[in-house]
Amino acid sequence: MARVRLAKKEDGLQPPQILEARERPPDHSVPDGPSMSRPIPRRVGRPVVVVSGCQKVYEGKTAALREVSMTVHAGEWVTIVGPSGSGKTTLLNIIGSLDQPSAGQVRVGGKDLARLDAADLADFRSRTVGFVFQRYYLIPYLSVEENVLLAQHFAGVDDPQAARTILRKLGLGHRLGHLPHQLSGGEQQRVCIARAVVNRPSVLLCDEPTGNLDGESSRKVFDAFRRLHARGTTIILVTHQEGYAAAGDRSIRLVDGRITDDGRSAPGRDGPASTP
Ligand SMILES: Nc1ncnc2c1ncn2[C@@H]1O[C@H](COP(=O)(O)OP(=O)(O)OP(=O)(O)O)[C@@H](O)[C@H]1O
Ligand SMILES: [Mg+2]
Repeated sequence: MARVRLAKKEDGLQPPQILEARERPPDHSVPDGPSMSRPIPRRVGRPVVVVSGCQKVYEGKTAALREVSMTVHAGEWVTIVGPSGSGKTTLLNIIGSLDQPSAGQVRVGGKDLARLDAADLADFRSRTVGFVFQRYYLIPYLSVEENVLLAQHFAGVDDPQAARTILRKLGLGHRLGHLPHQLSGGEQQRVCIARAVVNRPSVLLCDEPTGNLDGESSRKVFDAFRRLHARGTTIILVTHQEGYAAAGDRSIRLVDGRITDDGRSAPGRDGPASTP
């Protein structure tokens, strides 16, 4: 089986730079213990994602985002909902620098994404943001553990113990050596969550992470998000499932490329939203 070659000091790679825009360090360690049925109410920190007047026009004709402005604060869990084709994935991809806006500005962790060169963008994608997609995009010939180690490798980190600890706390301790195809969909998605948080990103971006899962698997995945959120992880999550849209602190609704509802404003919220 292919092995991941881990970064060494002589590679000249820097240790991860984290926690640029947080009031207090989030702990992505995925705590043990019973899962919470509700998010913990607490104050959130400074703005970590600021989208200003963002527009996206595909091929000169399809206006996917018309004029979108939104702010997400450190420690917040924001869900994005809206009809198919309303621009949810486009917005998430732009926040994660997987796509560029046609107009407007996006700042994440204090960085104006338009000002980052290719190397900075690669660094941003491996350290500042973590992605969880509906499709898992795991490397099929690498084991569960190696898939997570690969994410560390791209960030210049070599900490197999941390990778194993996160996987164990996500209930995958008995699957470390398995290949992705030997796992259930829910287990694969939890590997993706481990991969997304192993480098302690400033914000976790999730695009319909339970779209392919049954109810029980979805619940386990959302439990993982709740526990990460309770430890300070900032989450932006796109979902079609109305029940889960209320799991976060705030729900933003997109319709035809525009925000029609921005939920409650943060910071300073004083109670949890209802849960699925
Ligand atoms: N690469 C692309 N090229 C051209 N048009 C695109 C591209 N990506 C998305 N679009 C269009 O932009 C609009 C918004 O798409 P987007 O994928 O952001 O919607 P969405 O809200 O995520 O939808 P869904 O809920 O079905 O995933 C749609 O009209 C879509 O057809
Ligand atoms: Mg989408």
